[in-house]
Amino acid sequence: MAHELTEEDAVSNDHPRVADGEPTPDATLAQAVREPAAASPDWWRSAVIYQVYVRSFADGNGDGTGDLAGVRQHLGYLRDLGVDAIWFTPWYVSPLADGGYDVADYRAIDPQFGTLAEAEQLIAEARDLGIRTIIDVVPNHVSSEHEWFKAALAAGPGSPERERFWFHPGKGEDGSEIPTRWVSEFQGSTWTRTTNPDGTPGEWYLHVFAPEQPDLNWNHPDVRREHEDILRFWFDRGAAGIRIDSAAQLVKDPALPEVPAHPGPGEHPHVDRDELHDIYRGWRAVADSYEEPRVLVGEVWLADRARFAQYLRPDEMHTAFNFDFMARPWDAKALRESVQTTLDAHAPVAAPATWVLSNHDVTRPVTRYGREDSSFAFTAKRFGTPTDLETGRRRARAAALLSAALPGSLYLYQGDELGLPEVEDLPLDAIQDPMHFRSDGVDPGRDGCRVPLPWTRGGTSHGFGPDGGAQPWLPQPHGWGEVSVEAQSDDETSVLALYRRVLATRRAEPALHGEAFRWLDSLGGVALGDDVLAFRRGDTRDDAHGDDDGVLTCVVNLGTEDVPLPADAEVLLHSGTPHGADTSEPPTRLAPDTAVWLRA
Ligand code: GLC
Repeated sequence: MAHELTEEDAVSNDHPRVADGEPTPDATLAQAVREPAAASPDWWRSAVIYQVYVRSFADGNGDGTGDLAGVRQHLGYLRDLGVDAIWFTPWYVSPLADGGYDVADYRAIDPQFGTLAEAEQLIAEARDLGIRTIIDVVPNHVSSEHEWFKAALAAGPGSPERERFWFHPGKGEDGSEIPTRWVSEFQGSTWTRTTNPDGTPGEWYLHVFAPEQPDLNWNHPDVRREHEDILRFWFDRGAAGIRIDSAAQLVKDPALPEVPAHPGPGEHPHVDRDELHDIYRGWRAVADSYEEPRVLVGEVWLADRARFAQYLRPDEMHTAFNFDFMARPWDAKALRESVQTTLDAHAPVAAPATWVLSNHDVTRPVTRYGREDSSFAFTAKRFGTPTDLETGRRRARAAALLSAALPGSLYLYQGDELGLPEVEDLPLDAIQDPMHFRSDGVDPGRDGCRVPLPWTRGGTSHGFGPDGGAQPWLPQPHGWGEVSVEAQSDDETSVLALYRRVLATRRAEPALHGEAFRWLDSLGGVALGDDVLAFRRGDTRDDAHGDDDGVLTCVVNLGTEDVPLPADAEVLLHSGTPHGADTSEPPTRLAPDTAVWLRA
């Protein structure tokens, strides 16, 4: 069974199961021009992809955990927001030791989230609204509850079942010392010792993340075969693509050496090994075998931009997350450099860039951009780091215009369209993230960006679940109703109103569909300072006319002084006023921490 997107699917804009009322005016605009984007085989090059963290999006059955029924109720909201695709974080059977990134069965939906039939329905319903589905595949490790791992433990040392993982005797006479001193992504050792059936201490197994996430041995043919089969399983069910979890980590040096102090390219024993490329070439062949080719999106955390780009060669992944941009501080020089090095690194492999402001692992932009140090690093996360949310919100609004105007695809993490802050005062006993526990409580963990969404002003869980249902799995903070979808839908000045407009304008503006991009160092003949980012999209020739539909200029003021805007510019969008385009007096100056899209 293969769900292909047909033109008929793409234009149909209604569905009986979609519960979110009438489309907004912006949504109508988005809908009007949705057809060509949806029908294009290159949709992924400039798509807007919305990340659903299933557990926290909407709770359809009222048990306190988000589920597929909840997503289905709000597909209309996502259509109106103007997204092209949804990326679902893992929805498979899982003990949820790492929020679902510990998969026990890749072909079944966790009963807390729904059923396989429901997932198929959801994919089809989204497709009817012109929204594609990207699912999350976790190839580096499985859950310790996965059949393969349970069989490996039971079969004992030297068994073929153990060869699918990295079981190893310990060092020292009694085998009580860890095989390597590799450090886990969640801190601590990457090895856990097993217990033999007779109760004696046994071999150790490798887990780059938590002990509940044993690493697979990608040198084993079963592992490769199984994953290609999993891809087909979901592609056959209509998934338009996959997000590849921890994509640069799968392959390990079988000699298990220690990590060198300064590993050169390809020399790290468990990150960015050259053998990875062959795996992704195999996956690309699977993806390309479908009539509408499926898309591979890599979670590739690599500082080396040239090595990063190698994953995006034409026969490997289509795109990969641009974490460099995401981690940069709110600083014009730093962001300009990131944009430029991103575009330079992607050009030789002809892959489009991606623009990411956040995801389910990192501090929400509103909170991060309000900090004195607004860069992001996992190792720097601490309780009690001050932030100025008003500044953060202004900057996050400007960052929305910046990121949506850059050439490539755009990722939007659920709740960022509401301007939600990181929840930094979760009760300690509510926290579930292993990153928190494995740091001995020093790292607050990632739950602060995973708090269930507020849909309505009131109600038991602000509309996350039905009224009278269970409390959400993470408590919502005081005042959550004021930032709810309901509250923001009635407010022209809200972050939601801004995002709807940004996405609708992006869809409607041909200048933003291609890849043409040029920095500007002056505006209307006035030189711009170092604190301003300005660039032109569309026709980037010197003599291109601003009154032409083919040109759009984005200006972002990251300084502390106003920047003059050309008097004759038409303001399409303004991050700092409700709707710049609707005001009779277009602004002549751009205030600090704001951005505009101009036709000039
Ligand atoms: C990725 C996921 C993260 C998860 C980790 C291990 O980085 O985004 O949430 O903890 O992989 O699977």
